[in-house]
Amino acid sequence: MQINKLKEEINNFSSDDKNPAEVFRIKFLGSHGSVKSLMGEMKNVAPENKREMGKVLNELKLFAENKWEELKKTTDDDKQQTTENGIDLTLPGDALQIGSRHPISIVRNKIVSIFQRLGFAVAEGPEIEDDWHNFTALNLPENHPARDMQDTFYVSQNPAWMLRTHTSSVQVREMEKGKLPIRIICPGRVYRNETISARAHCFFNQVEGLYIADNVSFADLKQTLYFFVQEMFGKEIKVRFRPSYFPFTEPSAEMDISCLICGGAGCNVCKHTGWVEILGCGMVHPNVLENCGIDSKKYTGFAFGMGIERITMLKYQIKDLRIFSENDLRFLKQFTSAV
Ligand code: PHE
Repeated sequence: MQINKLKEEINNFSSDDKNPAEVFRIKFLGSHGSVKSLMGEMKNVAPENKREMGKVLNELKLFAENKWEELKKTTDDDKQQTTENGIDLTLPGDALQIGSRHPISIVRNKIVSIFQRLGFAVAEGPEIEDDWHNFTALNLPENHPARDMQDTFYVSQNPAWMLRTHTSSVQVREMEKGKLPIRIICPGRVYRNETISARAHCFFNQVEGLYIADNVSFADLKQTLYFFVQEMFGKEIKVRFRPSYFPFTEPSAEMDISCLICGGAGCNVCKHTGWVEILGCGMVHPNVLENCGIDSKKYTGFAFGMGIERITMLKYQIKDLRIFSENDLRFLKQFTSAV
């Protein structure tokens, strides 16, 4: 009876211990274990039963030892933690690579947040545009020579469509909504059919801005942009405006900042002028306002546009803009700690 019970106990043995085989050995096979102590009972067995009893007890011992071997095997396997198909589960895992924001994103976010603090909202639009939004509404009627300023990729299936050459198209879409005042910035990717070089690519990123309300003046434009560059590059930065031409603004200007490298003394980066150009701007041309259904007698506005690549190159002293789109981790990893 006792033997059968013990056998069952041996058979059903399990343990949560790290080493179940050892727990088993102590419990059943150790010098104070159950099998051993049953063996000790032999001396009390009547001589005529001794033979029979010895056989049964030997069988029990063998049974327990087999179980022990079995347990040892699984314990060893557990120790190696090797699965059936030979995968070693104790090996350390592959470290997860932590990425970092792309420098263009870092600078775009910074530009956006500076203008947001001035009350500008972000507006977005499609990258595939029609002629009206990209050109005509912006005072560049068909055959206008200024269209050549921006070499354009047309969609071959439908040449009425093109990849936008600037995000001014988003401003047109916003003006057409007819809700005034408008105070928006338009970050986004733009495309131009240009020869790829250290300073130009066939696509780049822009942030354009537009403010239309009663009595918006050129002074507002200057102060807004001055605030922007001070926040972006530091309080000691100087700016200057040079007259320029854009079909969609009148008057138009280009804004330069004092060279960040030489502080205005003259170096290679500023081509020894002490100044670097960073954006185009001007007062929105009345034709543009009228094209978009805004009364140009009642409202005035300013607009500006800058390339994010250019600002990033100046901020981080990067000499070749092709590197922004090469996915070279040696370059990108340098921005891990930037926000
Ligand atoms: N759209 C112009 C460009 O892409 C930039 C610009 C915007 C200039 C607004 C003046 C005013 O070159």
